[in-house]
This record gives sequence, C-alpha cells and structure tokens, in this order.
Amino acid sequence: MNFKEKINPNNLPQHIAIIMDGNGRWAKKKGLMRAMGHEKGTKAVREVVEGASEIGVKNLTLYAFSTENWNRPKLEVDTLMKLLVSSLKKEIKTLEENNIKLNAIGCLDNLPTKARAELKEVIEKTGNNNRMTLTLALSYGSREEITHVIKEISEKVKNGEISVKAIDESVINKHLYTRNLPNVDLLIRTSGEQRISNFLLWQIAYAELYFSEILWPDYRKDDLYEAIFNYQNRERRFGKTSEQLS
Ligand code: FPP
Repeated sequence: MNFKEKINPNNLPQHIAIIMDGNGRWAKKKGLMRAMGHEKGTKAVREVVEGASEIGVKNLTLYAFSTENWNRPKLEVDTLMKLLVSSLKKEIKTLEENNIKLNAIGCLDNLPTKARAELKEVIEKTGNNNRMTLTLALSYGSREEITHVIKEISEKVKNGEISVKAIDESVINKHLYTRNLPNVDLLIRTSGEQRISNFLLWQIAYAELYFSEILWPDYRKDDLYEAIFNYQNRERRFGKTSEQLS
C-alpha cells in the first residue's frame, strides 16, 4: 500500500517519537545473534529519518538507549555503543546534505568517551541545519529527566532565582532535556509491545499512540507513513468535546 500519497501535508505531526523495539526478536527468528538485529536496526533508522524528512516532518525523536538498557549483558551494551559511533561516522554526511540537525537527550555523561566525542562533533557540525531535528534519546529515562528537572528548579528556588509561586508548566518545559522541542504529537512503538517504557512521559501527555506489530529492523518508510495517515484520521480533542472542535 502506498500511504505517502494519502498523507495531508498540512496536518503533519510536528513531533514524532519512536520506541524502536524488536531487534532481538528479529535476530532470534532468523537464528542470528542479537547484535545482527541491532545492526539491521540502523538501516531502519536511516529509512525513517529519510522518510520523515522527505515529507516535511520537523522533529523526530528516537529511543536508542534507555537508562535501563545499561543492565543488558556487557557485550550487547558494547555493541550498541559501537553501532552508535559507526552510524554517526557513516551518516554525518547524509545529515549535512539533507539539512538535518542532530540533537541528543539523556544522561550523555554516562556514554563512553568515544561515543560522547562523536556525538559532540556531529551535533556541532549540524547545529545550523533546519529542515528537521533528529533527536537521539541515549541513556535516557523519563523519570531520571523529571528528577533532574526537580533538582535544577529546587536549586534555583534555593538561590532565589525563581519563586515557588512562579513554577508552572512552562518553567518545567524549559528545564526538560527536550526544552527546544515541541510536545510529541505521535508516539510509535514497534514489535507489538504496548507500553511506554519510561519514554518522554511528560512530553506525550496528549500524544496519539500508535502500536505496530512490525519488528524494528523490518520497519520501512511506508510503515511510518501508515502511522502518520492513521494519526491524521483521529480526532484530537485535548479535553474538549467533539462539538467544540467543529
Ligand atoms: C530494542 O530492541 C532496541 C534497542 C534497545 C536499541 C535500538 C538501537 C538501534 C535501532 C540501533 C542503533 C541506533 C542508532 C541511533 C545508531 P530489543 O533489543 O529490545 O529487541 P527485543 O525486545 O526483541 O529483544
């Protein structure tokens, strides 16, 4: 099915976030090592980045590594970190050519030195691009992010920089790792699992959720377009009634 031509370009989600799940099961089904699933997963990353920017999506955020993923076997963690470095090296040119800005959220200090350095370089080199912002969530956990926000705001209250009364949603937004991004409109999770797994809990308050059965390494542009088409056929009420909207 060709979903691309069905998409209304005037009603695109401003921010799409994806929980890329199913690399391990994809590999197991094929009798391969889990690492092969992750490697194939990088091809799907390329597909959705290209696919999203082609139709004019402005913000795409990918859950690449969670705070909880550090608990996986060391070999797998090492593989994922190596894949991150090699993908960044490989894709920097494509990002530059396509005017895509790279951004990262999470406890980036916990990443290996090489990964941090590579990330820093690509973020700097693509800093002025403005076709689409691609955010990688790395060593990211929403509870950690919210804890971090609370600590930062508390410090400011203690130093008299802000009063308790002045704390509102916009102040909280400004302290999140996603401070420069709009709220998520569409959250996609692949592989048939239907949970949020500590991803952008504050930012998805009014996101439309879309669960796909496809394992991440098999995810292609048209699957993304199908999710966007599905999103465009929903009524987003933001707490209002249907009648109020029309
Ligand atoms: C989930 O599959 C996927 C991950 C934990 C990592 C996602 C990483 C990539 C797609 C590759 C690297 C990314 C970049 C941005 C270079 P899983 O291992 O949990 O699969 P399972 O649930 O089937 O075991």
